[in-house]
Amino acid sequence: MRLGNHPGPHGRFRGMEPMEIMGALLTPEGRDDPYPLYEAAHAFGTVVDVSEGFAMASGYEVVNRVLRDPAFGVWDHELRARTWPSELVERPSIKSMERSVLNSNTPEHGRMRALISSVFTPRRVGMLEPAIEAAVETLLDRLADEGAGGAPVDFMDRFGYRLPVAVICDLLGIPESDRETFRKLATQLAAVLDFIDLADALDLADAAGTELESYFGALVAERRRRPADDLTSALIAACDADEARLDEVELLANLTLLLIAGFETTANLFGNGVRLLFEYPEVADDLRLGTVRYAGFAEEVLRYDSPVQMTSRVALTEGLMVGGLPTPEGTEVALLIGAANRDPRRYEEPSRFDPRRTDINPLSFGAGAHFCVGSVLARTEAAIGFPRLLERFPALASAGEPRRNDRLVLRGYASLPVTVA
Ligand code: HEM
Repeated sequence: MRLGNHPGPHGRFRGMEPMEIMGALLTPEGRDDPYPLYEAAHAFGTVVDVSEGFAMASGYEVVNRVLRDPAFGVWDHELRARTWPSELVERPSIKSMERSVLNSNTPEHGRMRALISSVFTPRRVGMLEPAIEAAVETLLDRLADEGAGGAPVDFMDRFGYRLPVAVICDLLGIPESDRETFRKLATQLAAVLDFIDLADALDLADAAGTELESYFGALVAERRRRPADDLTSALIAACDADEARLDEVELLANLTLLLIAGFETTANLFGNGVRLLFEYPEVADDLRLGTVRYAGFAEEVLRYDSPVQMTSRVALTEGLMVGGLPTPEGTEVALLIGAANRDPRRYEEPSRFDPRRTDINPLSFGAGAHFCVGSVLARTEAAIGFPRLLERFPALASAGEPRRNDRLVLRGYASLPVTVA
């Protein structure tokens, strides 16, 4: 069955209440295929009350507007301290990024974001291009060796995860020998970006958070002694020039965030894209022939099966409305990015995968003040990785059922068996 070809709200999810939809999204079945549930959410309009103090937005325009509205904030450390149980707020994994841009509101957010943007520039990403090309070739060479004679290989393990981790480590100046450890720690800590049952995952995430903090602490000390041409040194220079712009805790939190935010997300863009190529082999042919553009393909993958499925915002003041719904101060609005990207009010036949669409503009990188810092980097990796993969392996094919990552927010595959010859 093709992803998204399901009975829809007129089938098994007809009549579900908003609370049941939200609950079902958290089940293994809902995580596996949330799209029928998103359709059921669309049937309630663009936004709906789920319970007291909690609403769910699934419409493109509404999600876009809330993301751009400074009156809605993220869960920063003050809000968390006021509303979350202290055992949770104090966990090392939660603390590890609580002072990062992702978890800050005005004025801290603007101050840190301006600084990060000043060093993480399109020019720096442009300078990384030769390194990305080289990393892609090395990974494809290894795929060719391991997959010789039609032996199945795991695309996620051998390419999907390896490329983003190599690129971020290059960017941050992390030595090659430490990259395998980083990959493991990044995966474990990324659990805090998800909403699913966290009990076991949080223990691992705590350990990973502690280890990463001490690693970055040592890296920062080393780069202070001997600066290099990397993002870590550039951030340290900014921090040392003026403590008021970025203090030491914020420096470590943002370094950790840059690693976590850019790793599994980009890996999922590759995995979800390759899976879609297997479902739509005619698209792979058109890409090879040049009748479909790779840029359009990547945008449609981002829309159709977004690596980040949701985020949320909290109403910071009284008197706010979302799509006509009153949201008193403190109301949390779940922003279903994956649903907004398939909003029938915004996209014609949203459940059809069509890389020839125009004006795709998915919300997969967010919008407004927190718009993804790494979107140019992720798109550059896709613009290099997908064409080289398809050119190099004309016989690229599925070699069995992929296994999903059991996550709701970060949607992708843990393993994706392929043959390349
Ligand atoms: C396909 C890949 C990626 C996707 C789908 C993605 C998605 C997102 C989304 C949806 C947000 C906004 C979250 C919110 O508003 O609540 C975000 C923020 C962010 N992303 Fe990405 N991301 C990707 C790759 C990257 C990469 C490669 C990096 C860095 C190396 C990165 C770094 C960040 C950072 C630092 C933020 C926080 C920005 C802020 O709060 O001001 N991301 N990303």
